Amino acid sequence: MIKTSLKSYRKKTKKSSNLFKKSKKLHVNGVHHNIRFFEPYPFIVKASNGKYLVDVDSNKYVDYWMGHWSLLLGHSPKDVKTNVRIQLENGWMHGTASKNSIELSEIISKAVPVAEKIRYTSTGTEATMYAVRLARTATKRKTIAKIDGGWHGYTTDLLKTVNWPFNKSESNGLVDEKYIISLPFNDLESSIKILKSKKNDLAAVIIEPVLGGGGSIPATKDYLLGIEEFCHKNNSLFILDEIVTGFRFRYGCLYETMKLDPDIITLGKIVGGGFPIGIISGKNEFMNYANTSRFSKLGRAYIGGGTFSANPLSMIAGNSTLNTIKKKGNKLYQKLNDFGSETRKMLDKKFAGSVITTGMGSLFLTHFLSTKVHEINNAADVAKCNTKKLHDYHFHMIANDGIFFLPGKLGVFSDAHTKSDIKAIAKSTDQFLTTFKK
Ligand SMILES: Cc1ncc(COP(=O)(O)O)c(C=O)c1O
Repeated sequence: MIKTSLKSYRKKTKKSSNLFKKSKKLHVNGVHHNIRFFEPYPFIVKASNGKYLVDVDSNKYVDYWMGHWSLLLGHSPKDVKTNVRIQLENGWMHGTASKNSIELSEIISKAVPVAEKIRYTSTGTEATMYAVRLARTATKRKTIAKIDGGWHGYTTDLLKTVNWPFNKSESNGLVDEKYIISLPFNDLESSIKILKSKKNDLAAVIIEPVLGGGGSIPATKDYLLGIEEFCHKNNSLFILDEIVTGFRFRYGCLYETMKLDPDIITLGKIVGGGFPIGIISGKNEFMNYANTSRFSKLGRAYIGGGTFSANPLSMIAGNSTLNTIKKKGNKLYQKLNDFGSETRKMLDKKFAGSVITTGMGSLFLTHFLSTKVHEINNAADVAKCNTKKLHDYHFHMIANDGIFFLPGKLGVFSDAHTKSDIKAIAKSTDQFLTTFKK
């Protein structure tokens, strides 16, 4: 870690430092999601608004983490706040069938035609867990294929081959790991070979159209089409995890732009407008396996459930977010996608061949190349890059310029960002380059 950055960070985050000591006594690792910790300690947030996070020492940070990429409109946008306030007056926990889940589902099913049936959960992790269960029920098979570096939450089934070198168990406490197999991203020939070796027991392939946690890498259209074709010929389900990509690049999902035909889609993040949400949805013929009045216990899968599923605040925040996005129209996505491509180009130019900034639309992550890697096609390439330098770079921006990327993770633009923010990243990057040369 660069000494000058460390010094200025410690100096400006004294209250955070003290509070984090307390947090460590109370909480495992001091945080509630492992990735939220960074060295020497994360600043502690007391408020957020628009593009800013504000910490307990009253430092302001322009936020590119945007609530695990869930806030397309920025923090606390006006319309969403107003509608959530109205909902508070009408109660925030009904625990019954509710009107606003129907309203949100009408919006989503129009924008995402393959979502013929929808079930809400409180997290994306639950949604992918249920997707796996449903696929196993529908096919009466057990094996699920995922991608090396694919992240679908901490579900017991899918917590495998997340971190390079992908050949060790990710955690204790996992059982039946033999039923999860893993494919090299964007390598169709090798992936099909692996799928063929398990084809008789292959229930589904689950895949993100843009590898998010694994390094901000888009899948090629041919790769996705090839995997989908194999699944459909083999009577296996093709599950697209669009929890990051849903409503990120357009009003709807990515699958339509690639002419894909997924059987199940999982959504989350943006569709909850910053409130807890996960969605499992898809074609009737598969979603119906969860229909308890149609199938006996032997033939059905339990999916959904959860005290807070379809809670009124998530439903109204999602509804209001999607309506606002729709009202803003294509101009919003044009702006976000342009900001992303301008920033990727600008960073690659500044670092003059020593990095590759990957991503798509408003997603971007800079990879510092090393002697072991010269191009970025998958999560293995990402892991072989100089990840320490990436952490130093992100920490430099936090400590010196009030620009927040969760160190090592991809950044996003939201509607709250402006062109001047790109200039600020450019300026901070210049400073980092100067410091690093010293
Ligand atoms: C592609 C993908 N799937 C699933 C999840 C899990 O969602 P959640 O964190 O809401 O449980 C994530 C979270 O980042 C994700 O990126």
